[in-house]
Amino acid sequence: MTVTELAPTHAARDAQVAKILAAFGMTPGTALSGVASGGRFAPEPRGAVLETFDPTTGVVLARVRTAAPDDYTAAAKAARAAFERWRLVPAPRRGEFVRLLGERFRERKEDLARLISVENGKILSEARGEVQEVIDMCDLAVGQSRQLFGRTIVSERPQHRIVENWHPAGIVGIISAFNFPVAVPGWGWSLALVCGDSVLWKPSSLTPLASIACQQLFHDVTNGTEAEGVFSLVNGAGATVGELLLADARVPLVQATGSCALGERVSAAVGKRGARAILELGGNNAVVVLDDADLDQALASVVFGSVGTAGQRCTTTRRLILQRGIAKRFVDRMLGAYRTVQIGDPLDERTLMGPLISAQAVTDYRNGMAEIRRQGGDVLCGDVVLDRPGYFVAPTIVRSRADMPVVADEIFAPILHVFEVETLDEAIALNNAVPQGLSSAIFTRDLHAAERWLSAAGADTGLANVNAGTSGAEIGGAFGGEKLTGGGRQAGSDAWKGYMRRQTSTVNFGTQVVLAQGVRFDVEEKP
Ligand code: UN1
Repeated sequence: MTVTELAPTHAARDAQVAKILAAFGMTPGTALSGVASGGRFAPEPRGAVLETFDPTTGVVLARVRTAAPDDYTAAAKAARAAFERWRLVPAPRRGEFVRLLGERFRERKEDLARLISVENGKILSEARGEVQEVIDMCDLAVGQSRQLFGRTIVSERPQHRIVENWHPAGIVGIISAFNFPVAVPGWGWSLALVCGDSVLWKPSSLTPLASIACQQLFHDVTNGTEAEGVFSLVNGAGATVGELLLADARVPLVQATGSCALGERVSAAVGKRGARAILELGGNNAVVVLDDADLDQALASVVFGSVGTAGQRCTTTRRLILQRGIAKRFVDRMLGAYRTVQIGDPLDERTLMGPLISAQAVTDYRNGMAEIRRQGGDVLCGDVVLDRPGYFVAPTIVRSRADMPVVADEIFAPILHVFEVETLDEAIALNNAVPQGLSSAIFTRDLHAAERWLSAAGADTGLANVNAGTSGAEIGGAFGGEKLTGGGRQAGSDAWKGYMRRQTSTVNFGTQVVLAQGVRFDVEEKP
């Protein structure tokens, strides 16, 4: 297949990268502190120094000093102290700070988008969308700050009332992934803050600079106010800082985004100490295209879903289930569309697909493709690692069989499996036949098919769409999925409840003791 590439010259790129880092006071190649608490960056955290790479060139962007156990403890203590103050600030006032944070992200949207694009490799338009997602979340959370309400429940007992209160939960630990280094943590911190929680954030070691830039914006807004110190940042490896956070009795709630394997570790560690986890793990998302679909609409949606973010969204379209009548025509059109996808520098506005995140991700892609071929997958296009610096691969389409075990794996790369089916029932069964359950979509003009897809016997995913692709969800709905995806819900709808502690209170405003369920227990007192 021909691959359309865009490559900048070295000198031009170096100057561009230096300018993008300078917007956050960073200099390429130098060492930065990746730890902050109490409104300040720790000057010399003593954990290992990690290197962050520019995935477009493979060059080191910066070195980041991470948290040693002592640094972690200091940050967790500061987060607890901040929580004890913050929980007493009225929620609408807390919302006011989230409004100001949203304003700050608006002001710095372009700078932050460019930094995300350099460090993560996603194209500028998607990086801008990522910052917008945080801004949208802040707007939603501000409104929510006046709506943290519970219910009043009628009592079976006379002169009793039952009321539900929502209280701040405590420190919210946020473990975030490289692929949405700003937006997904933003789903958590925007709600956590209005809910009266403080935040202890352990970002992906692949994207520490984005976390440091966000922490700077947090400080801009909160320092010198009653919100000072509500944000703590602990960069570091999962095996060290991550494990400390998971085992920390000061942290009653952990929001974690990442692989299904990460989810298992988080559930085990957090479950052992009776804390809660909000998990958003792997997806293995399918699009079904029925014979009667609007094929133009389906095509554009599937290509964005499968190629967007170089196949590195949890919501990426990884499986395409085509009804027999349109299958050949649709595959031919997909191949034509894939041929036009510009691969290259994510900062170039013409680019549609940037690099993968790391050399390891390229190895995973190679190994995944080898396994797919070994199990009988028929490569229709792609299966190529580009011969250029950085971590570029070609978007790939494979004709696969449902019984190939590799189809059940989430390979975090732009690999799309194509299947053919005869009927809607077969399509639904195939959609649901994977261990993950995040997102899925059907393209059809048939109302009956669409409604069956959305029914109790339809798609089993946390997000299920009609004539809209698997990725690119808005923040207004609750985001998350079933099965190995972890069951958590984040962002909109009533996801805020996950960031609070629920208390049910019975109030007796009479003078008698009346027991529920008709129980009699008459105590006599001896004079
Ligand atoms: C993720 O990949 O972890 O729906 C989140 C989407 C984005 C969020 C993706 N709004 O694709």
